Amino acid sequence: SEISSIKAFTESKGATLIPSTYHSVTDPHDHVAHDFAASIPVLDLSLLTSCDPQIHTIAVHELAKACAQWGVFMLINHGIPESLTEELMNKSREFHDLPLEEKKEFSDEGPFTPIRHGTSFYSESEKVHYWRDYLKVITFPQFNFPHKPQGYREVAYEYSQKIRGVARNLLEGISESLGLGSNSIIESTDFEYGLQSFFVNLYPPCPQPHLAQGLPPHSDHGLMTLLIQNGIGGLQVKHDGKWVDVNPLPNSLVVILGDQLEVVSNGRYESVLHRAILNNTDTRMSIAVVNGPAPDKEIGAAPELLEKEKAVFKSIKYRDYLEVQQKTRYADKSGLEVIRLN
Ligand code: SIN
Ligand code: FE2
Repeated sequence: SEISSIKAFTESKGATLIPSTYHSVTDPHDHVAHDFAASIPVLDLSLLTSCDPQIHTIAVHELAKACAQWGVFMLINHGIPESLTEELMNKSREFHDLPLEEKKEFSDEGPFTPIRHGTSFYSESEKVHYWRDYLKVITFPQFNFPHKPQGYREVAYEYSQKIRGVARNLLEGISESLGLGSNSIIESTDFEYGLQSFFVNLYPPCPQPHLAQGLPPHSDHGLMTLLIQNGIGGLQVKHDGKWVDVNPLPNSLVVILGDQLEVVSNGRYESVLHRAILNNTDTRMSIAVVNGPAPDKEIGAAPELLEKEKAVFKSIKYRDYLEVQQKTRYADKSGLEVIRLN
C-alpha cells in the first residue's frame, strides 16, 4: 500500500531497486550545465543594509541584476549565527529520526494545517512519487512547532524570526531596485502579517538516483524562500533553459524568488524553477522557509508600477493563489499562467 515515509521504507527494506511508482518521466541528471554553477550570484547583506549611501546603491544594483537575470542568489553576511543554523539542522535530523509512531499525530492534511509530517510532494493527487519526507510548519503570523525533540521549538522560533528580518531587508532592497520606495512591497503585501511556511526536507540515499527525483520542477508560491542545507548538494535551478547545480557557500542562505514577487514586480523579477535531485550515498537535508504576503491581502503589481504600465497578472488574494497553485498541481509555473492577463 501507500508509503507514508520514504526514510522508514528505505531503512526497513534495504532495497536495491526502487518501487516503479517513484520512476520519474525524465532522467533528472540529464541536461545539467555544470559549468554554470560557479556563476550563481553572491550578495552580501551587510552591504545592502550599509549606512554609506554609495555602498548601499551599488548593492541595490547588484540585487537588481541577480533578481532579473537569475531569480536565485546566495546571501552572505546575513547575520544569522552559524551555531543557530547548526543546532537547527541537528534538531531537524533528530525529528526525522523519531520513530514513525511519534510523528503520526502530525499526519493531518491540508495547506493550512499548522504542523504536518508527510512524504513525497503532493501525495494526494500526484502520479509519480518523490523520494522525500518533510515536516511543514506554519511559523507566522502564528508560531507553531512540534514540542519534540526537546528544544527544537525554541531553536526554530529564533531562526524563523531572524529569517523574517532578513526577508524584510531583502524586500526593502528589492523595492528600491524597482525604483519604488523601500517600504512599497512590505506595505502592498501586508508583510507585517505575512504567511511564513517552514519546510524541513529529508532525502534518504536512493539506490537508483537517476530514476527518481527528490522534488519535481516547481516554483515557490511566496515572495521569497530562504534555504539552507546540510552540506549535501541536490538543489538545481533552471537558468537559460538548463538545469544548474546550486552549491551554496558555507554559511550562506540560498534566496529563491517566488511567484508572488513576480506578481508584485509586474513580471520583472520572475520566480525561478527549481528541483531536488538524489544521490545513492548520503542523506540530504534542506530547510526552506517560504515568506509570503498576508493570506487575505489581495496581491497585484506594486501600485506605483501601474501608473506607467498595464498589470501583467490579475490581482487575487494570496490565500486564493495557494488554491490555484494546488489545482494546477504545482506543475512548473502553471499557477501564474492561470492569473496571467491577456
Ligand atoms: C524546496 O524546493 O522546497 C526544497 C529544495 C531543496 O531541497 O533544496
Ligand atoms: Fe521550492
